[in-house]
Amino acid sequence: MTNIKTVFVTGGAGYIGSHCVLSLLEAGYDVVAIDNFANSVGQEKAASLDRVCQITGKEVIFYKCDLLDIQQLDEIFNKHKFDCVIHFAAMKSVGESMKQPLIYYKNNIIGAMNLLEVMALHKCYQLVFSSSCTVYGNPAFLPITEDHPIGNVTNVYGRTKYFIEEILKDTVNSDQKWNIISLRYFNPVGAHSSGLIGEDPTTNFSNLMPYIAQVALGKKTSLSIYGEDYATSDGTGIRDYVHVMDLAEGHVAALKKIQSNKVDLKVYNLGSGQGTSVLEFVKTFEKVTGVKVPYTIEARREGDIESMYANCDLAKKDLGWTAKYNLEDMCRDFWKWQTMNPNGYKKSETTTKNGKTNSH
Ligand SMILES: NC(=O)c1ccc[n+]([C@@H]2O[C@H](COP(=O)([O-])OP(=O)(O)OC[C@H]3O[C@@H](n4cnc5c(N)ncnc54)[C@H](O)[C@@H]3O)[C@@H](O)[C@H]2O)c1
Repeated sequence: MTNIKTVFVTGGAGYIGSHCVLSLLEAGYDVVAIDNFANSVGQEKAASLDRVCQITGKEVIFYKCDLLDIQQLDEIFNKHKFDCVIHFAAMKSVGESMKQPLIYYKNNIIGAMNLLEVMALHKCYQLVFSSSCTVYGNPAFLPITEDHPIGNVTNVYGRTKYFIEEILKDTVNSDQKWNIISLRYFNPVGAHSSGLIGEDPTTNFSNLMPYIAQVALGKKTSLSIYGEDYATSDGTGIRDYVHVMDLAEGHVAALKKIQSNKVDLKVYNLGSGQGTSVLEFVKTFEKVTGVKVPYTIEARREGDIESMYANCDLAKKDLGWTAKYNLEDMCRDFWKWQTMNPNGYKKSETTTKNGKTNSH
């Protein structure tokens, strides 16, 4: 039994990180977060985490810090006692990772190694790691279970996750004190139901939902759908979309697991367990929001996977976690965030729950 009170969150200003911080605060944990704002908005403070504090009425201690700066990381660990770390910070664009492999390897792998080194130095051995379904590569069978082979990855970003999982294995094997859970996310979408926090990428993105929203808001003329000749019900690719708040709760469940059991290293899929095609997604979005999303069909993209969805039985059995929200919830909540914040955190004007207007 390890009592977990204070959690250190890397990449806390980002999309999943900020939603997870909210769930951690609501579950009663104290949170210290860092981010270097490579893909989030802030200067000394994080815009997303300001909103999280507004929603929860609780405080988050935040440092602007790059994981590549091991000295600053060590100083932060000197100032606080952390019982567990949740490691979100990473660069995550598949396309960019193919063009800038060395930057991705350096940021994601050296960043993770610095973190593990500083954790060991400060005798903090509990970790929850953000992995990804990309580690599975092209599925040999569906739905994918955690024992599906990994490593046959089709892109550099996915390889950074695979290599880090291997590093975590070696780390746990070298010292029994470590207690690590690696969560393989499928396709996180949606936003917190308040509409105050959501996905606000500051670098190039190609994820489906932000792209659809750009089209729906009239900022892009049409959505490009790559491939309509896959062996799926309507010919478009199939993915497993999971609401970001379900994902956030998955981290709280992982912390509880680490708190009550010696896990060594455990891996769990976090997805909805449902496969949804791109066209089904677009139709659901149109139905929920009442907004048309014009699209064009393009040729398949090299390296794209036809169909990918999770078996999440293990997370249900071991963590007591299962996704609660459906695709309609994901579309509704995401659209609320987009319409309340058409320009993301930067230039948005929002009405807070106290009725005050905040400018960012
Ligand atoms: N969103 C997805 O589709 C998805 C799917 C599977 C796995 N993941 C993983 O989940 C994690 C969170 O993803 P997200 O969607 O919230 O991405 P995000 O880009 O919104 O958040 C990541 C945050 O980490 C920060 N960061 C990056 N490098 C850093 C560094 N060296 N030091 C400090 N901060 C740094 C970024 O500024 C950003 O705020 C990532 O590890 C990502 O690879 C995401």
